[in-house]
Amino acid sequence: MKKTAIVTGGSRGIGYAVALQLGMENCNLVIFSRHLDDTEFSDFKERGFDFLLVSGDISQKADREKLLSETIGKYGRVDILINDAGVAPLERKDILEMTEESFDRVLSINTKGNMFMTQLVANQMIKQDKVFSRKGTIVNVSSCSAVVSSPNRAEYCVSKAGISMLTKLYADRLAKEDILVHEVRPGVIETKMTSSVRGKYDNLFQSGIFPIARWGKPEDVAHVVSFMVSDKFNYTTGDYIDVDGGFHIQSL
Ligand SMILES: NC(=O)c1ccc[n+]([C@@H]2O[C@H](COP(=O)([O-])OP(=O)(O)OC[C@H]3O[C@@H](n4cnc5c(N)ncnc54)[C@H](OP(=O)(O)O)[C@@H]3O)[C@@H](O)[C@H]2O)c1
Repeated sequence: MKKTAIVTGGSRGIGYAVALQLGMENCNLVIFSRHLDDTEFSDFKERGFDFLLVSGDISQKADREKLLSETIGKYGRVDILINDAGVAPLERKDILEMTEESFDRVLSINTKGNMFMTQLVANQMIKQDKVFSRKGTIVNVSSCSAVVSSPNRAEYCVSKAGISMLTKLYADRLAKEDILVHEVRPGVIETKMTSSVRGKYDNLFQSGIFPIARWGKPEDVAHVVSFMVSDKFNYTTGDYIDVDGGFHIQSL
């Protein structure tokens, strides 16, 4: 029997790399995002992956429910949930100018989406038969912004700090249900999300504030997620791994 993995935000960037990695590890894949184009998954077809595309908005209850029901309809169970779907503010604005609309948009996708997708899938995992070494694994993609202040995108930082607390809360509640919850904290990764600030980060790499002075690749994150969902990571829950080239190190 194969494990079934839901990857929200799996259409591109980090989520796509995670899905590709889990597909190579023989999981059935369910890819969820707002816009999905079958032609962008030709690589999955060529590799013979078994996958399902479900389009929807993670901030909407009906879309989250559709994601779960289509997953159960095709594969009958969920073993892995990767909460990756996320957005940056449409416009970077100083915290003194940030609008309520932007705050609501970012929090409802990044944090509310994570909170209620996890709730939905955890309840599904709990009622499933245990056929693998545990009932399920959930990985949250937060960010170094969960702990690093950027006053010109405060809503993003708050949304990611919320995900860190959700990781602890669900890990605490779900350990007795035989479900582990982990958090991966990417630093600066080369994806569409960072394409508009490429020059800024190129300069920061040159200035030396990242000990490993290069852009992170989506695969760098995918490899850590692969370890987290594996049977080599069994006695840890509610914890995080920085995938940030050492950016978190405070240095004098
Ligand atoms: N890139 C970085 O440097 C970096 C660093 C730290 C953390 N992260 C986090 O990593 C995750 C992935 O980021 P990325 O860099 O890979 O960004 P990306 O290339 O922009 O991909 C974001 C993914 O999320 C989906 N998505 C966005 N809003 C959604 C919604 N409302 N409902 C469902 N799906 C939605 C997007 O598809 P649609 O637009 O079609 O919906 C896409 O699949 C995000 O949570 C981000 O905050 C990224």
